[in-house]
Amino acid sequence: MRPKIHAHFAMTADGKISTKNLTPSQFTSPADKARLGEIRARHDAILAGRGTVSADTMSMRISSEKLRADRVQRGLPPEPLRVVISNAGKIDPLWKIFQHTGSPIVILSTTRMPQKLRATLAPLCELHLYESAFVPLPAALSMLRAEYGVKSLVCEGGGALLRSLAAAGFLDEFHLTLAPVLFGGASAPTLTGLPGDFLPRPLEFRLVEIKPLGGECLLHFKRKTSRRMN
Ligand SMILES: NC(=O)c1ccc[n+]([C@@H]2O[C@H](COP(=O)([O-])OP(=O)(O)OC[C@H]3O[C@@H](n4cnc5c(N)ncnc54)[C@H](OP(=O)(O)O)[C@@H]3O)[C@@H](O)[C@H]2O)c1
Repeated sequence: MRPKIHAHFAMTADGKISTKNLTPSQFTSPADKARLGEIRARHDAILAGRGTVSADTMSMRISSEKLRADRVQRGLPPEPLRVVISNAGKIDPLWKIFQHTGSPIVILSTTRMPQKLRATLAPLCELHLYESAFVPLPAALSMLRAEYGVKSLVCEGGGALLRSLAAAGFLDEFHLTLAPVLFGGASAPTLTGLPGDFLPRPLEFRLVEIKPLGGECLLHFKRKTSRRMN
């Protein structure tokens, strides 16, 4: 059984999630950053792709003491498990995530990861290396549930990872912060990554909440039970 999968993204009014150079864009308000912490606090794990952890220098932590204390009151660890995924095993031990103690870090990757790097990472995180070229998502997600008790997780990007979750039909809900800014860029990434093929089938959602906040618009969608669209 896999965890419930939520996603949380910020998107420009023209549908882009990143600048053309894939540099950290920071295009939403402090209120949105605070909301990010609130969403993290509702889940057992935070999941991000290798590109995002690297580009956005993420620590994947909850900075609010109150949110951490509330979780403890609910019988949870102060912060959710931090999960990073990479097929090729391109994990840099110098990333910010490894410099912040907090919840355990789980790396989902494959035996493509060089032996030397595995030894360097071993004291910093828990490595789950699959003997295949690509991380088998169903097995990896079920493992998170069975071994770490992850009943729900929030995926914070990037587009490549969200696309693979959506393609597998593994996206249950998503939160979107629509920012009043335009980036343009025919080749800029969207929620489902760089422009490319259509998903194997469309995923339909229903809007459950819409809220203006600090000049931005917060949207919350839940997956509809499937209906064929072409
Ligand atoms: N606006 C927002 O809310 C938001 C959110 C997140 C990110 N971003 C932006 O998006 C950009 C990064 O985009 P990205 O598409 O490169 O991000 P990404 O999805 O975080 O990273 C892509 C890499 O993650 C690994 N990966 C993704 N899906 C995988 C899967 N199913 N199984 C195994 N590994 C998987 C692969 O790593 P390997 O190549 O190592 O195999 C892949 O090359 C950054 O500019 C960041 O700022 C924006």
